[in-house]
Amino acid sequence: MAVLISGRGSNMTALIAAAADPAFPATIALVLSNRPDAAGLAVAAEADIPTAVVDHKPHGKDREAFERVLDETLRAAGIDIVCLAGFMRVLTPWFVERWTGRMLNIHPSLLPAFRGLDTHARALAEGVRLHGCTVHFVVPELDAGPAVMQAAVPVVPGDTPTSLAARVLTQEHRVYPAALALVASGAVALDADGRIAGPPAA
Ligand code: GRF
Repeated sequence: MAVLISGRGSNMTALIAAAADPAFPATIALVLSNRPDAAGLAVAAEADIPTAVVDHKPHGKDREAFERVLDETLRAAGIDIVCLAGFMRVLTPWFVERWTGRMLNIHPSLLPAFRGLDTHARALAEGVRLHGCTVHFVVPELDAGPAVMQAAVPVVPGDTPTSLAARVLTQEHRVYPAALALVASGAVALDADGRIAGPPAA
């Protein structure tokens, strides 16, 4: 599988740590960034994982031109499963459909609440008592795919977006490897109707 990042890559680091166990049902064959300066690239290289940069900037507004290079790079590396981990590019239906059922994302909210950006500040503004993260299959609509696994955390008095983000991130690092293991082993899959097939994941 490949991990796609744009920044620090702490979820990528958690996936690398999990996949280091020989019993883990997936091998990380590539870490790919759309930003040459993503800090996570050095972390991956340090762990002896092949890295690639597919910079979106030379393609300007032509998203599909960027995605064609992305797709070719993933296929050339023999990738079966793609994990988006802080990958800050919206993907077109063309690309998403090429990887249907084989592409996961982690989102820092309990979907379907708080799709999109600034989830922690929005959760605090709404006054919710529970917040969390979701690993979901990627579908063309942003942050709308079926959940493979979720984890909830309490919102506590005095929380700021930063403190809440840190509490959620700890859970992200736990559930992303667990959700990937379910998908890579075939225990959970996307069925023909776009629903989750497989056991409920706790
Ligand atoms: C995480 O909060 C993830 O949920 C969101 O982007 C952030 C990436 O963080 N999609 P990192 O690069 O994995 O540390």
